[in-house]
Amino acid sequence: MSTDPINPPRRLLMGPGPINADPRVLRAMSAQLVGQYDPAMTGYMNDTMELYRSVFRTSNEATFLIDGTGRAGIEAAFISLIQPGDVVLIPVFGRFGDLLRDIAERCQADVRVIEREWGTVFTPAEIEAALSEHKPAMLAIVHGDTSTTVAQPLDELGALAEKHGALFYTDATASLAGNSFEADTWGVDAVTSGLQKCLAGPSGSSPISLSAKAVAAMTSRDIPIRSNYFDLSQILEYWGPKRLNHHTEATSMLYAARECARLLVEEGMENAVERHRLHGAAMVEGLLALGLTLFGDQSVRMNNVVGVRIPDGIDGDAARATMLTDFGIEIGTSFGPLEGKVWRIGTMGYNARKDAVLTTLAAFEQVLRRGGFSVSGGAGVGAAMDFYG
Ligand SMILES: Cc1ncc(COP(=O)(O)O)c(C=O)c1O
Repeated sequence: MSTDPINPPRRLLMGPGPINADPRVLRAMSAQLVGQYDPAMTGYMNDTMELYRSVFRTSNEATFLIDGTGRAGIEAAFISLIQPGDVVLIPVFGRFGDLLRDIAERCQADVRVIEREWGTVFTPAEIEAALSEHKPAMLAIVHGDTSTTVAQPLDELGALAEKHGALFYTDATASLAGNSFEADTWGVDAVTSGLQKCLAGPSGSSPISLSAKAVAAMTSRDIPIRSNYFDLSQILEYWGPKRLNHHTEATSMLYAARECARLLVEEGMENAVERHRLHGAAMVEGLLALGLTLFGDQSVRMNNVVGVRIPDGIDGDAARATMLTDFGIEIGTSFGPLEGKVWRIGTMGYNARKDAVLTTLAAFEQVLRRGGFSVSGGAGVGAAMDFYG
């Protein structure tokens, strides 16, 4: 056992998340606690609701936080909105679609899945055909699936779900604030997220927003919600004017979540998305100039993460290990069908910055060369600098 204080090594986290938290978020987390019903605390809660309305681009009254990581928000939404036996349609195009399927099955939904090859997304026509066939109570789909680095266009799906009498849920854990997201314009009934990607915080709080239709569906259900911790009707009473006691708020995480949203609102949501687009595109230019090939349909690539095919003859895990030990830079591996074939490189949240992009490209060039991949000196950094130029 070590009794040393925690003193983590310096790292630049350029994988698919988590990323380095914005120092202002860490500062907010170190603020002293106040009582759960202290007017300062309830004020922070109200601010948080209002700030996340701007982040999600919604006027939904029911916009608040679930204490827990990204999947806590998903589980809270599903256990509260799905009744046992409800048909739930889940179009799966990556690993996190499988997570939605797993959680929906545990909520005793009658899950119907349609699948797409990883790296591609669904057309609205494919989803409409499945809505017609399965007549679900809910359409649930991931927005940006970090496992494949592509984002499903959502703008037509809310109207389609409504036309077929389904609630429309989406998981924006990996995409929110780095890619356009318009909850109200797109007709989203329920959306959940996490702090550890484009929101520039640590994982541990899951922002959520529910439309009036979703709240009505939840409050009129006839089978009680089979979770205490994730009972959104109770959690809403706690965040609402009645302030009915539910759990003891994870105050430091609430400070973090509020600061993440405050920084985004101060920056402006369009500016935040544009920042992710710019630095994500600069990273792509640099990677291409290094002679690498990208994975997935680039027309729908997420702004904040890119998949890179591991060149033949290169040991992907050894390269990642060298990036970490020699340069202190973390890049990501992949799962399932992409394991050993694709690296994932993120430019998100606090690390969607020029210096982070250039440093990563400079280090990557050295690691590739030493791994036996032929690269022309300075090509990656040069291309990214030209792009920024
Ligand atoms: C798209 C997506 N959904 C859900 C999750 C799960 O979030 P968490 O690991 O915070 O529970 C992740 C995490 O990477 C994700 O990328």
